[in-house]
Amino acid sequence: MGVVSIIGCGFVADLYMRSLQAMDGITVAGVHDHNPARLRQFCDFWEVPAVDTLEQLLDRHPRDGVVLNLTNPSAHFEVNSACLDAGCHTYSEKPLAMTLQDAKSLHDKANAAGLMLASAPCSVLGEAAQTLGHALRTGIAGTPRAIYAELDDGFVPQAAYKKWISESGAPWPFEDEFRVGCTLEHAGYYLGWLISWFGSVRTVVAASAQTIPDKEGTGPFAPDLSVATLFFENGPMTRLTCSIVAPHDHQIRIIGDDGVLACKAAWDNSAKVTFAKRLTIRRRLMESPFPKALKLSQPTHPKVKRWGAAAMNFMLGPAEMLEAIRAGRPSRLSNDFALHMTEVTLAMQNAGETSGAQTMTTGCDPMEPMPWAM
Ligand SMILES: NC(=O)c1ccc[n+]([C@@H]2O[C@H](COP(=O)([O-])OP(=O)(O)OC[C@H]3O[C@@H](n4cnc5c(N)ncnc54)[C@H](O)[C@@H]3O)[C@@H](O)[C@H]2O)c1
Repeated sequence: MGVVSIIGCGFVADLYMRSLQAMDGITVAGVHDHNPARLRQFCDFWEVPAVDTLEQLLDRHPRDGVVLNLTNPSAHFEVNSACLDAGCHTYSEKPLAMTLQDAKSLHDKANAAGLMLASAPCSVLGEAAQTLGHALRTGIAGTPRAIYAELDDGFVPQAAYKKWISESGAPWPFEDEFRVGCTLEHAGYYLGWLISWFGSVRTVVAASAQTIPDKEGTGPFAPDLSVATLFFENGPMTRLTCSIVAPHDHQIRIIGDDGVLACKAAWDNSAKVTFAKRLTIRRRLMESPFPKALKLSQPTHPKVKRWGAAAMNFMLGPAEMLEAIRAGRPSRLSNDFALHMTEVTLAMQNAGETSGAQTMTTGCDPMEPMPWAM
């Protein structure tokens, strides 16, 4: 299908390599990390070519391939800029950049050069998100009126995170995770789905706070809890919560005129998607206690077994870009989609107590469904 090069080979890079093994025909041209010991450990484990400098990596990267930027968020702007300046289509781990100004400048740079610039997460291209999208388009639950989506990870500061080691030996970077914050890290997992179905968010009314200031490591730390109300140009009012405080809950519920569509796992491509019809039994209004499991009628995409907290194919996004380059068509993970998701995420993260209503300045169209979910 095509060629990728990888920059940054820490914790998440192993999840990409495991996913890559499930995909047909994607090869790795080269891998670079500015930590030579980590680069060697990763490349020996996965048997992929190590490249000593970023310049060499970009130099030898084929221009019809995709560079994966899997570095820490604070390096995203600089590394994404370097990839685009070198004329490379770029898939960036989230967020695209740490400020809206930087994200906009990357977006403008990519557009001016005719390059693709996409942002993780790509679970929007996965089976669960596409099954829900199909259910929304076919109207099984009637008009959607409201959505509740939760990305609560449990009380992570008390978790045994020092024992979370990736397959090839990278520790989970807890200090960086606490500094970047769960909103920048995770909001995209449901924002991506929501924006793909409904297009642009018009207004964000959010609040965010640090509820556990004395986390381990060197701060300053980011908010560890955010709650946002999203008003779409063309979609139902939505509440989205991100935290590393509240008990683990990754469900999304779409409340329609005829019942509730739901999925309980944001990080599992194969998660069950259900529809609970609304009923009146005697005088009592309720959603059916026996929800129906919804399935697409066609085979979907290669799945990856659960590793740690996720059962996701991290290569669906890069594969979508490679396929779009090969076919000469726009990528579903468009530059506008990446920028808009970043703006909404930053509005949640930076809301604090007093931001009030924030009007979004970017936008994008809803995403074309995957062919197997039409
Ligand atoms: N940890 C997870 O579970 C997880 C899951 C999904 C996505 N992500 C995302 O993946 C990205 C990376 O996270 P991680 O957990 O792998 O972090 P990590 O700290 O384990 O790895 C990042 C790697 O990038 C390298 N690096 C940093 N700046 C660099 C630069 N300028 N040039 C070359 N190499 C550089 C570091 O040396 C390190 O090896 C983040 O954006 C994060 O949001 C992480």
